[in-house]
Amino acid sequence: MKQTAVTFRQAKGQRKLAMLTAYDATIARLMDDHVDAVLVGDSLGMVMLGRPDTLSVTMDQMIHHCAAVSRGLTRPLLVCDMPFMSYHLSPQQACANAGRLVQEGRAQAVKLEGGRHFCPQVEAIVQASIPVMGHLGLTPQSLHSMGGYKVQGRGREAAQALLDDARALEQAGVFAIVLECVPAPLAALVSRSVGVPTIGIGAGPDCDGQVLVWQDMLGMVDGLSPKFVKHYAELGTAMRQAFQTYADEVRAGTFPAAEHTYGMDEKDLEKLY
Ligand code: KIV
Ligand code: NA
Repeated sequence: MKQTAVTFRQAKGQRKLAMLTAYDATIARLMDDHVDAVLVGDSLGMVMLGRPDTLSVTMDQMIHHCAAVSRGLTRPLLVCDMPFMSYHLSPQQACANAGRLVQEGRAQAVKLEGGRHFCPQVEAIVQASIPVMGHLGLTPQSLHSMGGYKVQGRGREAAQALLDDARALEQAGVFAIVLECVPAPLAALVSRSVGVPTIGIGAGPDCDGQVLVWQDMLGMVDGLSPKFVKHYAELGTAMRQAFQTYADEVRAGTFPAAEHTYGMDEKDLEKLY
């Protein structure tokens, strides 16, 4: 069945929601039968474009990748991130840019980072009939003001603030809320306290769904990965082995073999010069 923001919202309490990121049509096609929603995350700045953070990602980049993902999807809900500074200035700016993600990127919903301060933006986009997903906890676009990537919501005041933000977002009309790097007991409390699904990443098992970056969950990212990343395959290792074997065979002349090669009647080559 085709998933929509409506079916996604209604899943709360009925079934758990599985979401993954994607940035291109080939990967989207591979996920098509298997997840409820696909997110074109602004993590594309890091995993696709090699940037150190998400801050430099542009609207045009998001649209380019979202449109590519849309061509690979038939069933899951397609959600696209609003990049840094594409919704911060005003509800009008937020609405215009959300509209571009839908019209040019073929997104079926948008996601933006932040709590009560961004409720006017959420309301304006929802008014324009574009479903909005919230994002609380570790919000990577706030890297500099958070003082780094760290667990959010620890301590009584921070926990209350996160809970208030979740309630404010629900009131503003979001259909779901991502909780990133939030202690599991707080994520569980937020999940019980709002009527929309919570989608966790590093937020424990009691969220209504989960999301992961696909390169992370397939073991393709080098270096230290956060605690919440589970590797469902070691594709990074498998790919390096394949690249090495290919290079070895090319150098040895064993690839291509007969079965990879087109023939012809060699008489047709006689007396050619
Ligand atoms: O950009 C992204 O990939 C995200 C998810 C990790 C939630 O926002
Ligand atoms: Na993001």
